Amino acid sequence: MPVEMPDQKIARDLLAHYDVHARTLSWRAAPGANATDPYRVWLSEVMLQQTTVAAAGPYFDRFTARWPTVESLAGATDADLMAAWAGLGYYARARNLLACARMVVRDHGGEFPDSEAGLLSLPGVGAYTAAAIAAIAFGRRAVVVDANVERVVARLFAIATPLPAGRSQIRAAADRITPDARAGDFAQAMMDLGATICTSRSPACGICPLRADCAAVATADPAAFPVKAAKKPRPHRLGHGWWIERDRHVWLIRRPDKGLLGGMRALPSSDWSAAPDPRSPLTADWRTIADPVDHVFTHFSLALTMHWTDAGQQPSGPGEWWPVERLDEAGLPTLFRRAADAVLTQRKCHDHA
Ligand code: ADE
Repeated sequence: MPVEMPDQKIARDLLAHYDVHARTLSWRAAPGANATDPYRVWLSEVMLQQTTVAAAGPYFDRFTARWPTVESLAGATDADLMAAWAGLGYYARARNLLACARMVVRDHGGEFPDSEAGLLSLPGVGAYTAAAIAAIAFGRRAVVVDANVERVVARLFAIATPLPAGRSQIRAAADRITPDARAGDFAQAMMDLGATICTSRSPACGICPLRADCAAVATADPAAFPVKAAKKPRPHRLGHGWWIERDRHVWLIRRPDKGLLGGMRALPSSDWSAAPDPRSPLTADWRTIADPVDHVFTHFSLALTMHWTDAGQQPSGPGEWWPVERLDEAGLPTLFRRAADAVLTQRKCHDHA
């Protein structure tokens, strides 16, 4: 009998576990199945960049019901797509999604490229996403490393070099354990393990199929891996937002394409900084909500103080009067949806007082 290399044992143990315990997810083929629609794999992987499976799932189902093929998605308007994406965050992903669908249709006859290099040439497809699509949709051997996989690998080999410097070691180790066959199942099995057993704070080492292969489990604190360099604190910013209402319509603007929440509908707001400009877009009888709306972005946190008036004139500059009853259909990003809810709740108290 050939002697099995320890590195191959990890893939074998993990795939045997995956065959029984794979999570059933809308975009996934059954373990061992050969083909998965590249459109669905691509869409799911873009949605899952920086978003949890639980949050992305309903969006994936809605998108694929409305746009079942890359051709249909390529034909969507920017405004429809941005509105459908509202709430998922990281809106540059949505703009790239549309650009990518259009490029696949225009330059590739509606077929996704089937190699990592080809996939990398598409908008919004970086190293991780290219590897994931190549492995999951096309069965190619590719080394797929997201944050879950990073944690699993750092623990398997007790890699003590702090991130981000430790990433190259983690990648090399992931490469060593990636099998030639079933690379897509292997990648998804690693992700599932990271999401369900090898979790960040309290790994369930007692039920882990890789327990016998894991170096960290023998240490005092397996959860200490991956070691992270000390983080800089997230800066805090302030801002003002303006709810301008007239005849049960609220004034919405569209944010500039470049920058945070680019291209999304929004309530008018000030700059977001340590000392934001408090001047309102028009003179009115403003009421201010005492508690600001707190929202955390990747690179800063924001406290947005909301002001409202129900006798608003039309501000200068582009915008539209949107029916308050149909605010759900405006596709507001989460910050502005929460700001609107804060105003509407306060108004209800005010109207009943
Ligand atoms: N996270 C990113 N891609 C995923 C996938 N295909 N399955 C589970 N979790 C994921």
